[in-house]
Amino acid sequence: MRIINIGLLGFGTVGTGVAKLLIENKELLTARVGAHLNLKWIADIDTKTDRGIRPPDGVLTNDADRVVCDPEIDIVIEMIGGEGIAKDLIKKAIENGKHIVTANKALLAGHGNKLFETAAQKGVDLAFEASVGGCMPTIKTMRESLVANQIKAMTGILNGTCNYILSKIADEGITFQEALAEAQKKGYAEADPTLDVGGFDTAHKIAILTALAYGMEINLKDVYVEGISEITPLDIEFAKQFGYRIKLLAISKFENNRVEARVHPTMIPSGNLLASIKGTVNAITVSADAAGDILLYGHGAGMMPTASAVLSDIVDIARNILSGTARRIPALSYQRDNIRKIPILPMDDLITHYYFRFSALDHPGVLSTISGIIGKYGISIQSVHQKGRKMNGAVPVVMLSHRAKEADVKRALNDINALDVVSNDAVLIRIENEKRDSNTQG
Ligand code: HSE
Repeated sequence: MRIINIGLLGFGTVGTGVAKLLIENKELLTARVGAHLNLKWIADIDTKTDRGIRPPDGVLTNDADRVVCDPEIDIVIEMIGGEGIAKDLIKKAIENGKHIVTANKALLAGHGNKLFETAAQKGVDLAFEASVGGCMPTIKTMRESLVANQIKAMTGILNGTCNYILSKIADEGITFQEALAEAQKKGYAEADPTLDVGGFDTAHKIAILTALAYGMEINLKDVYVEGISEITPLDIEFAKQFGYRIKLLAISKFENNRVEARVHPTMIPSGNLLASIKGTVNAITVSADAAGDILLYGHGAGMMPTASAVLSDIVDIARNILSGTARRIPALSYQRDNIRKIPILPMDDLITHYYFRFSALDHPGVLSTISGIIGKYGISIQSVHQKGRKMNGAVPVVMLSHRAKEADVKRALNDINALDVVSNDAVLIRIENEKRDSNTQG
């Protein structure tokens, strides 16, 4: 039986999961692939720590170069992460004719276009199922299951740490800082949580999916990003009263020949399927012209769920090798010649519903001053709520708008923030309604 040799770079959490599956599910994999998937090397700077599995003797090395240069290696699995050494090793492995499997969304979002080009020149596959949504088959779904569809929109919860934090604030009324501390204690959030809570990890993922969906290169800089660190229990409570939940959503749409891609805290109706996704799991809805809406749900991170996605790539490549082929499925879903530039909708042109919260003095005329400014910019208010009564102090005044243009909203909020009767800058949270929005205001 044919042996397919695999070199694993990085023996951290996911790397360990990959090794575990290759070792413990060896028979199952052989039965399904029709070849032996042989874990020939595991390279890591730390070859001493006990990871709870015992790789066969002679497999562990701290020389990553040895792995990417070994002529017997067919597939290199990059589980190091980051954009430094990981990129150099992938490049070297591609140059040496190895197929690559990676979960490294930051690397692909920043340097994917170039890496895919290099892989194409060398005739090897660069597979990345685990880079978006852990075990959820997002890449496979976009590239294979929905291949006959025009993708219209994607809306996803793609960061488990943020979803855990927002779920905690909603369920327990604790602050962002308290929820983040719990996420860190449980090992969900990194010591430096910026990548997660700043929305950047989600942006990496939606940048990749946006490219696949509409046939463009990966353009991270075109993704608008806002994180969750300003979300308060008060806004979550108001959201509940209006029948909404707040989620960090990745939203990507193709409308009127323009693409919009944005990541920000979003109010969604509590009856929306994504509103019920709690804790560290991920979910994404994809709207496609023939299939309609589909929902994927699953663990977006963690040792074994992510390893499961990595193994699906390994098996795809192994099957290609066995049938003497490679690059059967284009990396970005479209043939390279058909990848085009599509205009991006600037955030200022976005038209959506908004939630505003002002801290306003509870004086006669204050509300009409605020609404006057909002009216001046052509923004139509759907409802107004004032909570509590505090003479000479600030009270929260909440307004929900009809569909309005982001540029007008920004101008109105600038004027309102400058008023003496308003303390603190206004809070703005965009609302995504169930019915797909058409591009008209009011
Ligand atoms: N840190 C991410 C999360 C997983 O919390 O979902 C890796 O992208």
